[in-house]
Amino acid sequence: MARAMARPAPKSFHVKSFGCQMNVYDGARMAELMQAQGMVEAGADTADLVLLNTCHIREKAAEKVYSDIGRLAKRASGKPMIAVAGCVAQAEGAEIPKRARAVDLVVGPQAYHRLPGLIADAAAGRPAVDTDMPVLSKFDALPGRSGGSPSAFLTVQEGCDKFCTYCVVPYTRGAEVSRPWAAVMDEARALVDGGARELTLLGQNVNAWTGEDEAGRPQGLDGLIRALDRLPGLARIRYMTSHPNDMADGLIAAHGDVESLMPFLHLPVQSGSDRILRAMNRAHDVASYLRLIDRVRAVRPDIAVSGDYIVGFPGETDADFEGTMDAVRAVGHAMAYSFKYSPRTGTPAATMADQIAPEVMDERLQRLQALLGAQQLAFNRATIGRTCDVLIERAGKLPGQKLGKSPWLQSVLIDGGEIGDLVEVEVVAAGPQSMHGQRAQRAAA
Ligand code: SAH
Ligand code: SF4
Ligand code: F3S
Repeated sequence: MARAMARPAPKSFHVKSFGCQMNVYDGARMAELMQAQGMVEAGADTADLVLLNTCHIREKAAEKVYSDIGRLAKRASGKPMIAVAGCVAQAEGAEIPKRARAVDLVVGPQAYHRLPGLIADAAAGRPAVDTDMPVLSKFDALPGRSGGSPSAFLTVQEGCDKFCTYCVVPYTRGAEVSRPWAAVMDEARALVDGGARELTLLGQNVNAWTGEDEAGRPQGLDGLIRALDRLPGLARIRYMTSHPNDMADGLIAAHGDVESLMPFLHLPVQSGSDRILRAMNRAHDVASYLRLIDRVRAVRPDIAVSGDYIVGFPGETDADFEGTMDAVRAVGHAMAYSFKYSPRTGTPAATMADQIAPEVMDERLQRLQALLGAQQLAFNRATIGRTCDVLIERAGKLPGQKLGKSPWLQSVLIDGGEIGDLVEVEVVAAGPQSMHGQRAQRAAA
């Protein structure tokens, strides 16, 4: 980094997260770390330090950070200290301050427990780049959780060994690592003590979590979920994101008999063509994916199935794409994410033959999103007239209105109630993105 001038240590900070739920979790923990150092949270317009917590998954996400840096460098109230964290930081490291000289500090997703030292280095005009990957020491070195929101994220697993040919995650997040049982249980207790009623267990492949319980018995994610189910005060458990190959029998069974495990499964298949799945190195086929969905539905018929789809992977023909449309019809999603394939430098797919033209990708994505949108609306409408619990998470736009989540992760608007309440609601109207509920007379337990 070119700058050698010392400057006062920052007293306030702002964190902007661009990525997945794990990136949001990391952002919250970095904020807690800076608070523990005595810094206070402030807006992006005034904070002494702005931390851009980046995502590298698709080119658009990765490029966004550079326009933000440009804007911050010319900020009306003066240029803040600019820190780049997250997966772009891991992927591009010391190249970032070379390309964008306004950047003062770069920290990867496995090294952010060292932020205080890096901030001091940057303030003293010393180079501050850290992209080491000492996964577990990060969690050990972070301050304890204080919680605060009714629904909290808890990272239990990091990294990925799957090496899908299009994906940067194994490079930006490193190898699969599970956090130890006791560390997860301690963090869960702290979050519940701080007011969380719902926990979402996070991991790039969360269902690959393995560990040993207090008695030293080997456990999978289902064991962890069953232990959390017994935690007093915790009403709801979710987990995200899962890989079809790690969908163990015990986890499927848990969906049938663990009451606090919510009926929602995010299980990406990516494509409905076996040929493309092979080229993606997914190691599952469409039929095995559909069988998994059937098995989960057999134990939990109302489960909301979510997923991820990529259109325009190299070599994807019209017939391959029709296979994806057929797979979506066969699954019947409550919601799902869909993306245009984005070539990422260093991944095998980026140099494959038959890259698909942007217009073809656009047209496929539009058709897929129209189908997924129709499925989402149908799923939401099917809940009209049903009574369900809603966990109130925040205030709605209108006075007195509150916004919460149904068991199936739908956003539900209701009148009245307090943030953190779990209330019984009758769904009275449903749109594509949200639903309206009326509170039943009796509050849910
Ligand atoms: N571990 C998860 C997903 C992590 S990334 C899983 O395997 O299911 C989230 C989603 O981004 C992926 O599921 C995939 O659909 C999408 N994605 C990843 N790399 C991509 C790329 N190069 N172009 C477009 N979409 C991509
Ligand atoms: Fe990426 Fe595949 Fe790993 Fe998911 S399983 S994070 S898509 S490499
Ligand atoms: Fe993005 Fe990194 Fe998450 S690349 S999707 S922030 S793991």
